[in-house]
Amino acid sequence: MVLSAADKTNVKGVFAKIGGQAEEYGAETLARMFATYPQTKTYFPHFDLSPGSAQVKGHGKKVAAALVEAVNNIDDIAGALSKLSDLHAQKLRVDPVNFKLLGQCFLVVVAIRNPSVLTPEVHASLDKFQCAVGTVLTAKYR
Ligand code: HEM
Repeated sequence: MVLSAADKTNVKGVFAKIGGQAEEYGAETLARMFATYPQTKTYFPHFDLSPGSAQVKGHGKKVAAALVEAVNNIDDIAGALSKLSDLHAQKLRVDPVNFKLLGQCFLVVVAIRNPSVLTPEVHASLDKFQCAVGTVLTAKYR
């Protein structure tokens, strides 16, 4: 998934708006993913998955930090998320379809919290960015 210069600008703009609230976005994204797509819960048998639980918040923070890292290195997402790519592909072995579900939930959270930001063009750029991250995190499956 190749991001154009305009896509990169749009994605950076969204994350600039999110700013210090990234952790909340992450936790809300996970809560929505677990509620809407309960099959995703099977990867987290060791978590208390009720919305607002300390584990959902803590994990939301980690996921959000990884997304911010990807945005900050938008020209080398594969390099920035290399260790995470090893983890998801070699240890966790999360079925790639689930990355689309998480991306979808993140878009919904952005839309709800920041409706004016999500023009059709920005929506498209954010979708491409989520796909790029998902591609990197599932690139090393064997
Ligand atoms: C762990 C990021 C998608 C399942 C992690 C960690 C991060 C992360 C930062 C913590 C790594 C560490 O502690 O060193 C992301 C990002 C995603 C994504 C950025 C996509 C945008 C998914 C999806 C699933 C998933 C779709 C499954 C539905 C897991 C699991 C762990 C994990 C099971 C280990 C949790 C634990 O035991 O602490 N992920 N992830 N991830 N991720 Fe992902």
